[in-house]
Amino acid sequence: MEMEKLVSLCKRRGFMFQSSEIYGGINGFWDYGPLGVELKRNIKEAWWRDMVTAHDELSIADGAPGTYEMTGLDCTIIMHPQVWKVSGHFDLFCDKMVDCRETKGRYRFDQLRGRWVEAKGKRIFVTTLAETEDEAEDLQRRALKAFNLRGKDAEQLAWDGDTVSLDKIEDMTAVFAPEAKEIGTLTEPRDFNLMFPTTIGALAGEEGRAYLRPETAQGIFVNFKNVVDSTRVKIPFGIAQVGKSFRNEITPRNFTFRSREFEQMEIEFFCHPDTSRKWYEYWRDRRMKWYTDLGLSDERLQLRDHAEDELSHYSTGTADIEYAFPFLPEGEYGELEGIAHRGDFDLRSHMEGKLDPNTCPLEVEKGENGKPKYKGSGRDLTYRDDQTNERFTPHVIEPSAGADRAMLAFLCEAYTEDQQPDDKGNMKTRVVMKLHPRIAPIKAAIFPLVKKDGMPEVARDIYRAMKKRFPAFYDEKGAVGRRYRRQDEAGTPYCITVDGQTLDDQTVTVRDRDTLEQWRVKVDDVVEEIGGRVS
Ligand code: GAP
Repeated sequence: MEMEKLVSLCKRRGFMFQSSEIYGGINGFWDYGPLGVELKRNIKEAWWRDMVTAHDELSIADGAPGTYEMTGLDCTIIMHPQVWKVSGHFDLFCDKMVDCRETKGRYRFDQLRGRWVEAKGKRIFVTTLAETEDEAEDLQRRALKAFNLRGKDAEQLAWDGDTVSLDKIEDMTAVFAPEAKEIGTLTEPRDFNLMFPTTIGALAGEEGRAYLRPETAQGIFVNFKNVVDSTRVKIPFGIAQVGKSFRNEITPRNFTFRSREFEQMEIEFFCHPDTSRKWYEYWRDRRMKWYTDLGLSDERLQLRDHAEDELSHYSTGTADIEYAFPFLPEGEYGELEGIAHRGDFDLRSHMEGKLDPNTCPLEVEKGENGKPKYKGSGRDLTYRDDQTNERFTPHVIEPSAGADRAMLAFLCEAYTEDQQPDDKGNMKTRVVMKLHPRIAPIKAAIFPLVKKDGMPEVARDIYRAMKKRFPAFYDEKGAVGRRYRRQDEAGTPYCITVDGQTLDDQTVTVRDRDTLEQWRVKVDDVVEEIGGRVS
């Protein structure tokens, strides 16, 4: 599937729009349109239901080391600034970036790609902003420009090695930056903190400085004690949260994949240190299955364990669930969700203060007088098992998913084209979004075959009855084939047509979006029939 086709469908049919489009748009921000808002809500609701409300705490789930409880939270976006110091985000949540002194362009050090090339006795590293499939052509164009050569002189360019990212290059003076005229205009890489700062109240400067949360997880950690004290949850248990997070990404890209404002669906699962490894394995498999249950194909999904040198400073194990997004080069995958074994890093940090990121979790970073650099809350965030009387700091397993990335993957997977006859019998390309019925924005569309003979009245009654149970759509305009096509593009799994036979035998036609199979159902049973199929 070509990504442009999906992007164009998303705009045309109202799944997603560029934010503030009438003012030229704002990079890294996306609005969800009438169909998109339903799809995203359905994804978040499916997640919440499957992970939290429908979780059966009395039975042992498939592959789980025991029973567990699940509960939820909804925390604020702006939190006490100390949270981010203690969590490590204030000092460590950075990407390396380079600036172009000539064009004022700003690039992520590990994302800008280029290739070594030599001509006229000079060797330079020429860079490109082109998409992967256009990379080679653009590199050649830029290299010819750098050496003041014409297209017919391309054989003078001696390429060296593969296309690699800028972070593999040591000599910035040899880099020919994108859109620049001179060589060597990039600055040395420097850290760029991804948190969006804001100001609280009328206090200017550092005093009123706060941050938009870059993850929902910290709200859960700082409320750990509140949840334990206000409910009867016992370890092992998980706290779930869905909500907005903000990251000032240097180069947002690939549609909604890397945005500056996005939604996360996170679980912090608290367990005893001795069983934490088993829970980590359980959550890796449980979360992978959630995506396949909702329609992502095994062939495009992978569960990838982080190598030792990829692990965050606090993590003793992390696995990513990745999807082969069509905008990535063949064989490459993009992260949908990370499942991390965070040990006791978070609770301990919020108790004791920020730990040394290099030696964590064993040593506390010492300030001048032997105290941690950033003070913790000083609250006791340990847990006492009232059966064994053991007191310990729980270990945390964190399945952390992005709602926008999940939605993008479901959209990519759903986009299908096939050949079907139109109303006149001519074969035409049909675009169909094969979304799982649980997440489809509209569950059923109801059409009277013609706008007469009492058909609209029957169809409207069915529509009204359906609306009480699930999102339905009524359409009486145009040829019925065209109405079907519009619903196929919207991902509506079932279309119901009221026709001449309905008036004789009180049955309607139900058409399946994917198989195109049609069957008749009694008018009185049709709401139940569709309801059972889409829930
Ligand atoms: N609490 C851990 C945490 O936030 P993360 O890997 O940085 O971990 C978790 O983020 C998930 O959030 C990612 O797997 C991805 O789905 C989503 N996410 C992160 N940054 C994003 C961005 N800039 N745009 C869209 N989704 C993003």
